[in-house]
Amino acid sequence: MKFYRTLHPRPVAIIGSGDTNKEINFMACSWITPIAEDISALGFACDKGHYTYELIQKYKQFSVNIVEDLDLIWKVGTSSGKEINKAETFNIKFKSGKALSVPLIEGALANLECKVIKDVEIGEVMFYIGEVKHWKAQNFDEYGYKEFWKVPLHKSGKAFAFPSKKLRFLK
Ligand SMILES: Cc1cc2nc3c(=O)[nH]c(=O)nc-3n(C[C@H](O)[C@H](O)[C@H](O)COP(=O)(O)O)c2cc1C
Repeated sequence: MKFYRTLHPRPVAIIGSGDTNKEINFMACSWITPIAEDISALGFACDKGHYTYELIQKYKQFSVNIVEDLDLIWKVGTSSGKEINKAETFNIKFKSGKALSVPLIEGALANLECKVIKDVEIGEVMFYIGEVKHWKAQNFDEYGYKEFWKVPLHKSGKAFAFPSKKLRFLK
């Protein structure tokens, strides 16, 4: 039994890495969290064996893309950019960021452009803390996604869920 399963289901993102003028990659990531607001910061754990790790070490930037497409999440989460060009193989339409030359998946529910401001090596992973330099989200207001039920949650392995449309408001 794995301790971290107590913290799932949790939102899953696709991390874009590299530089759109040179080389890029995408991988699935569910170990991702907001960190601070004064400095807009978020962090995620990246296994040091991943191609994503190599590209983030090199370019010190990454993007966070929230997409509804579970097939795409699974594909980029089970193949390595060390072996294939995922953007070409999976026909991922992307463009360069506004603030940073990170790849942003077109049509995503949200795209965030992050510059690495700290990294913490722990066990097999590097925990990257990124400052959000620019972000945009579709159909979004101060309370978040209007269509929040489209945000995918990762349970474990091949099991995913989507939030129920039913909201409960506390009194
Ligand atoms: C749903 C899902 C969530 C994942 N979450 C993470 C994660 O949080 N951190 C991580 O390092 N790898 C995570 N992975 C594994 C990587 O996405 C996977 O090993 C990928 O092939 C790495 O690609 P790369 O070598 O091209 O960087 C996840 C995979 C899936 C399918």
